[in-house]
Amino acid sequence: MVYQFIETRMKNQVGIIELNRPERLNSLNRKMVSEILEALLAFESNEDIRVIVLTGNGKAFSAGADIEEMMGDNPISLELLDQFSDWDRLATIKKPIIGAVKGYVFGGGFELALSCDLLIAAAGTEFSFPEVGLGVMPGAGGTQRLTKLVGRTKALEWLWTGKRISANTALNNGIINKIVASELLMEESMKLATILASQPPISLRLIKDSVNKAIDYSLHEGMQYERKNFYLLFGTEDQKEGMSAFVEKRKPNYQGK
Ligand code: HXC
Repeated sequence: MVYQFIETRMKNQVGIIELNRPERLNSLNRKMVSEILEALLAFESNEDIRVIVLTGNGKAFSAGADIEEMMGDNPISLELLDQFSDWDRLATIKKPIIGAVKGYVFGGGFELALSCDLLIAAAGTEFSFPEVGLGVMPGAGGTQRLTKLVGRTKALEWLWTGKRISANTALNNGIINKIVASELLMEESMKLATILASQPPISLRLIKDSVNKAIDYSLHEGMQYERKNFYLLFGTEDQKEGMSAFVEKRKPNYQGK
């Protein structure tokens, strides 16, 4: 598939999506967001792909939504455009998504990163929600996901000031999983992707589903939900494979069935 603003490739069982608009610091126009979604859906339905890595190129993961594209919008044009239905769909992808980020991770780019499941950042990466400086605010989940991750106090400080957050601060606040040397970003991200690709895919899928429910559900509802997913896994061939392999003292080979 040929895209205008992204590139995709597959390596072993990993699907890689690279934002490719470096002359604009990978700022996200609407076509680009719909291409990202299209690529994610293609990997989601591809049985050979178990894990997705989303990354940028050049100086930025992404400097946010394309300001020139949205500057002429009004409430009705935005309502009719309904651009956020793409973002909503993106959040329902069931395969693991690793964000491999470097450089500027700003605005909508930060929201895209927060839509990933795990984040690896190159040393020197900077995160920011600069929307306040444009007279607006985040619109693709920034106020919600950041607050759930870091709490109200830090979220308000960062969203109100638009200040840049270093990779270290992001790590200390649970926003990212790991910081690596810039030149090792893809290598380290692929290492993690390869570990996940060797795990039983339906377990990964139902773990993601259950963990996501922990954000919205009460503890009681979440526990009931988790239990059903636990039961469901006993209907998979991979459960039989995993437990047999343990008993037979061999390495399991998971088929995702
Ligand atoms: C459109 C952008 C852009 C953006 C950069 N560019 N960010 N174009 N939208 N978000 C363009 C610049 O205009 C410039 O084009 C080229 O990319 C290179 O950027 P420079 O500014 O020259 O680079 P630099 O000096 O290194 O500064 C980097 C930067 C700065 C600090 C990241 O570009 C910046 O502040 N960008 C805007 C960041 C921002 O406010 N993001 C939030 C957007 S609102 P030319 O043609 O001059 O070479 C948002 C809302 C999300 O994200 C809502 C949900 C989707």
